[in-house]
Amino acid sequence: MKKQEMIYEGKGKKIFSTENERLIIAEFKDDLTAFNAEKKGSQSGKGAINCQISSLIFKLLQSHGIPTHYEETLDATHILCQKVEIIPIEVVVRNVATGSLSKRLGIQEGTILPFSLVEFYYKDDSLGDPIINDEHCKILNITQKQEELEFLKSQARKVNEILKDFFIQKNLKLIDFKLEFGKTKDGNIVLADEISPDSCRFWDKDTNQKLDKDVFRQDLGDLKVAYEEVLNRLTKGL
Ligand code: TMP
Repeated sequence: MKKQEMIYEGKGKKIFSTENERLIIAEFKDDLTAFNAEKKGSQSGKGAINCQISSLIFKLLQSHGIPTHYEETLDATHILCQKVEIIPIEVVVRNVATGSLSKRLGIQEGTILPFSLVEFYYKDDSLGDPIINDEHCKILNITQKQEELEFLKSQARKVNEILKDFFIQKNLKLIDFKLEFGKTKDGNIVLADEISPDSCRFWDKDTNQKLDKDVFRQDLGDLKVAYEEVLNRLTKGL
């Protein structure tokens, strides 16, 4: 399958059409942004690492019965995916308080939450991706169907259980992560976008060392070393 024209460029990926109108190719970029693109950078090889990590996680989730857009990995930086219409909600799941949750509610970083928290953010850069609830989703006409919102939450919780178990075996704590879902031509809702250290937070199980995009957000050191460490742990023994 070959790339045709670019149909979308986001902060971390480019999306290309293919000869099959139901399939797209996603290219993982080396670019890095944080704080709604106020901070920008680039790390050679980052796209390839995220491509491998995302591929591995999508395969894992599919093997547990979670429908995703992922079809196959084409090369170091490209994956073939089903074409979907992205639902403009960033679904965030949190197991441990940090980031914007700690800032917004004053919960100390590192506090283990009494249950996994699922939040919705409206995917709109011009508004800075504000937090929203089910009623906002209906007012914004993202969907009028409560069952679709419940489906997003239940899928996110299932993904959390699968990934938490998987990562802890690799000596990584899954702190929080962001998911995006899309609708296929047939109207099915599938997990889309990417799942990588750009969109998740991983802390070392023993030292709590941050091994994700917080290395870039907070200038904590060499991002590639951290991402490679995650990839090495995930692929060890495979
Ligand atoms: P937050 O604490 O900054 O709200 O981030 C929560 C999780 O969502 C964290 O794992 C990073 C991820 N995330 C993204 O993937 N994209 C974003 O634009 C933001 C703000 C967070």
